[in-house]
Amino acid sequence: MKKVTAIAPANIAFIKYWGRTDNKLFLPLNPSISMTMDKCLTKTTGFIDSNIKDDLIEIKEFNSNEFIKLDKVNNIKAHDVYNQIERIRNLSDIKGKVHIYTENSFPSDSGIASSASGFCALTACLLNLFERQDLFIDKKEFSKQVRLCGSGSAVRSVYGGFVEFTSGETHEESYAVQLYDENFWDLYDLVCIVDPSKKKVSSSKGHMDSNTSPFMKARQIELSDRIKEVKKALSKKDLPSLGKCIEEEAISMHAVMMTQKPPLFYFEPGTISIIKQLIDLRKEKYILGYFTIDAGANVHVITDRANLTNLQMELEKNPFIKSIIVNKPFKGAFLSEDHLI
Ligand code: PMV
Repeated sequence: MKKVTAIAPANIAFIKYWGRTDNKLFLPLNPSISMTMDKCLTKTTGFIDSNIKDDLIEIKEFNSNEFIKLDKVNNIKAHDVYNQIERIRNLSDIKGKVHIYTENSFPSDSGIASSASGFCALTACLLNLFERQDLFIDKKEFSKQVRLCGSGSAVRSVYGGFVEFTSGETHEESYAVQLYDENFWDLYDLVCIVDPSKKKVSSSKGHMDSNTSPFMKARQIELSDRIKEVKKALSKKDLPSLGKCIEEEAISMHAVMMTQKPPLFYFEPGTISIIKQLIDLRKEKYILGYFTIDAGANVHVITDRANLTNLQMELEKNPFIKSIIVNKPFKGAFLSEDHLI
């Protein structure tokens, strides 16, 4: 029996994807830019199973020992997963049902971009299982196939290093582009876990309501300059300039989230505590760490090698932080012979 295993990393967005222009093609309202992470990975093994009548996904959560069936009912994410299987099977002559096993090396659905790694690994696995390697090897095509599963952040996990997900008005125009590979800059993302529990509102639902915020227009106006500044800071490896931009960007996205209808509040007390701690550390101890926050309470702290040890020591003193995952830039999604089952 042919088994395929794919591994995909999560990524952290410096410029955020929030809002779509098309909810069928999942075209993003604005381009986004991210860094691919080496310690937050999803591993997915799949095979065609003649013993099952329906496709079957089994998930092993972080720190669990057992695989649990992913239920389709009342779960937008599960719906997107099963749709992606059906869609890719329709691109192939192979018509069998698939049995998929998947596991994360980190807590899922808590703002650490598990949908990015999860959907990217799933798509890589399916394209190879259904003999559409052509759409996997061509990274631009691969990223477009990933986009059609509904997770925009997953598009950026196709590549390693520093990646842009272009916006665009058609399916052909919206895809991932690598800006720099994983060896370009020794940047770190310290994921500070203040709350590993699952978020109550998915980002899929959040995207759909995002244009109800009166601040969305203002966000779009400032974004084009901010994108240029992030690209310039990356090209110069200028941490303070990059840090200033990514903090403004995270606040801008969360201002939209908090003012859309219904509003979304992802921050917890620990989130605010880390933001304030970072501002104080920069002012009082000249230790440079900059926050960014996705759709969850956990804080990603971006720093460089020169600041890493002191910053980590200081963050470990924060009583809200339960654990820290230290990430470096990593390569994009890839296949492995080391199957889950
Ligand atoms: O990829 P999605 O549809 O789960 O949306 C992700 C949105 C953010 O994580 C909040 C921002 C981003 O660009 O990763």
